[in-house]
Amino acid sequence: MNDARTAPADITAAALASFDGADDERLRRLAQVLTRHLHAFATEVGLTQGEWEEGIRILTETGHITDDRRQEFILWSDTLGLSMLVDALANPLPSGATESTVLGPFYVPGSPLRPYGASIAEEVAGAPAWIHGKVLDLDGGPIPGAELDVWQNGDDRLYAVQNAEAPEDHLRGRFTTRDDGSYAFLAVRPVPYTIPDDGPVGRMLAATGRHPWRPAHVHMIVRAPGYRTLATHIFDRESEYLDSDAVFAVKPSLLREFVRRPADDPERPDGVEGEWFSVENTLVLAPADEQ
Ligand code: BEZ
Ligand code: FE
Repeated sequence: MNDARTAPADITAAALASFDGADDERLRRLAQVLTRHLHAFATEVGLTQGEWEEGIRILTETGHITDDRRQEFILWSDTLGLSMLVDALANPLPSGATESTVLGPFYVPGSPLRPYGASIAEEVAGAPAWIHGKVLDLDGGPIPGAELDVWQNGDDRLYAVQNAEAPEDHLRGRFTTRDDGSYAFLAVRPVPYTIPDDGPVGRMLAATGRHPWRPAHVHMIVRAPGYRTLATHIFDRESEYLDSDAVFAVKPSLLREFVRRPADDPERPDGVEGEWFSVENTLVLAPADEQ
């Protein structure tokens, strides 16, 4: 009889070795490093059986609440800072290019194409905000024909996709830059809002003393042939929660001033009544082949 004891490190070694025969080198590395870090985590914290069972219960609940409208796994990734980390590691941008940030779950492809300067609000949704600027290359040259795909929430804190009462195309639209790279659209001043917090991620936030709020922002994806597609935000630099975004997506270079403009300002856009805001936002795209 062999009475040698099996140590925790033997279990880790056996689990790691089980992947040695994987033909795909990248898959082997991913599986082994993930296993190594999982085992190191359990070992370092001295994970109890009860804690492990609770972890499995949370993952099961995450699966149950996830469907084609709700993606709780991505929300875990977002709230643990992993989405932002993967973006930073996988898509380093050359200096001078506009920084990217998290896409979020409220992007719906197929927004209507709208002309230069059009409103994205299909109904009253907050203080008008004229968002304008140019899409440029790294040398400062204009990029004509670039597409800006924009979406945002209204003063009820909701994206149209979250509100069955809202018109489908409310607060979203696609715009094309003119020959000089310029674009403009009429938005509303966004407001802070909470990420979906009625599921396991929300319970994690509450249990750990974190809040579910995101600072006010407008989303955009900028696409142009020959350039890297950019998913980014305009953050209202006066918003609450800039220092504690629930999904770690704030980058200082993305803060913009919403400049207060009086009703009688001669530059007031058509269709705007009362006080409004303007926001200048230049976007710089990296070439497609530059890493
Ligand atoms: C958003 O900005 O739309 C968002 C991003 C990550 C998680 C939840 C919402
Ligand atoms: Fe958002």
